[in-house]
Amino acid sequence: MNNSTKRLALLTSVTTSYLICCAFALLYWLAYDEINWLAFFLVLVSSFSITFFIFKFTIENFIYNKIKLIYKTIHTYKIKKKNHKSTIKLDFTRDIISDVNTEVTQWAEESSQEIEQLRASEKYRREFLGNVSHELKTPIFSIQGYLQTLIDGGIHDPNVNIKYLERAEKNVDRLVNIVRDLDAISKLESGELKPNPKKFNIIDLVHEIFDELELKAKEKKIKLFLADSSVATVFVYADKEKIRQVFVNLLRNSISYGNAGGSTKISFFEMDPNILVEVTDTGVGIEQKDLPRIFERFYRTDESRSRELGGTGLGLAIVKHIIEAHDQVVNVRSTVGIGTTFGFTLKKG
Ligand SMILES: Nc1ncnc2c1ncn2[C@@H]1O[C@H](COP(=O)(O)OP(=O)(O)OP(=O)(O)O)[C@@H](O)[C@H]1O
Ligand SMILES: [Mg+2]
Repeated sequence: MNNSTKRLALLTSVTTSYLICCAFALLYWLAYDEINWLAFFLVLVSSFSITFFIFKFTIENFIYNKIKLIYKTIHTYKIKKKNHKSTIKLDFTRDIISDVNTEVTQWAEESSQEIEQLRASEKYRREFLGNVSHELKTPIFSIQGYLQTLIDGGIHDPNVNIKYLERAEKNVDRLVNIVRDLDAISKLESGELKPNPKKFNIIDLVHEIFDELELKAKEKKIKLFLADSSVATVFVYADKEKIRQVFVNLLRNSISYGNAGGSTKISFFEMDPNILVEVTDTGVGIEQKDLPRIFERFYRTDESRSRELGGTGLGLAIVKHIIEAHDQVVNVRSTVGIGTTFGFTLKKG
């Protein structure tokens, strides 16, 4: 029982038993003209014991009734959250007040953490919506502009009709890419796109991607190559299609932000039980101040230049999500004017 409750019961019973004893002594003295100290002592002890237990019970009962409601509310709230059944039991042999105090404190802490999380996700939702509409606005308004010009007579002008249709198509492609990336990122974040790992030869995958990006690389005179061309097999245990997406995003970046006549090298390093994969380019590089934020969605180092190159700022965020969904890590190091290296680990196959 709570000490203050005990003290209160003790104080009240001492006062009451003292008054009972005084009344008893007075009555005894009036009846027999003397004081019986033994009877006085017995009455004192028995009245003290009886009143102490009566007061203790009454005070506890009073407190119990007062705090039951609070206790019930907290329990119901916690049970609802944990989604399992439980019955409320208040144990009289325990310190009820301090139990409730602990629960209320715990409840307040949990609630404030929840409020913080809600605030953070609300902030994220607002930022995300803002970024998405911002990104969609540019190509949509461009398409609208080209189509309007064509409708206003441009369609009959051989100098602009094909050119404007091609530009509109390019912007449609951009929209398709943004929507595809947004879809991928929201699925990865909600855990809907879980990796389906299997053993495969990553060297074969790299060759497939080199073939896929060959044209784009040639346009910029960038050479794509394996650091050690003599290695024919490196087995990893991962989701092949998702790792394809990782390579495509990193290699596309190395071409987009690469210097004409430069190169992109892919290297593999043993790091038991993992393989470290590195994609190194000889491009423009990334400033140190940008490196910590480079994997954030919609983050671009040089807004105008990246926009010119058609970037949305989702590629690296997707890379990070995919690698982390494999319980692996991704990192970056870079020197402006020299180049950038992205490294990520994969489980050995
Ligand atoms: N290899 C690189 N060299 C230099 N800068 C890079 C490199 N890779 C990424 N960046 C910078 O990081 C930014 C974010 O890259 P990310 O791939 O996430 O987006 P993006 O390329 O702009 O758009 P997208 O969503 O189309 O990939 C880029 O805008 C660019 O400024
Ligand atoms: Mg990119």
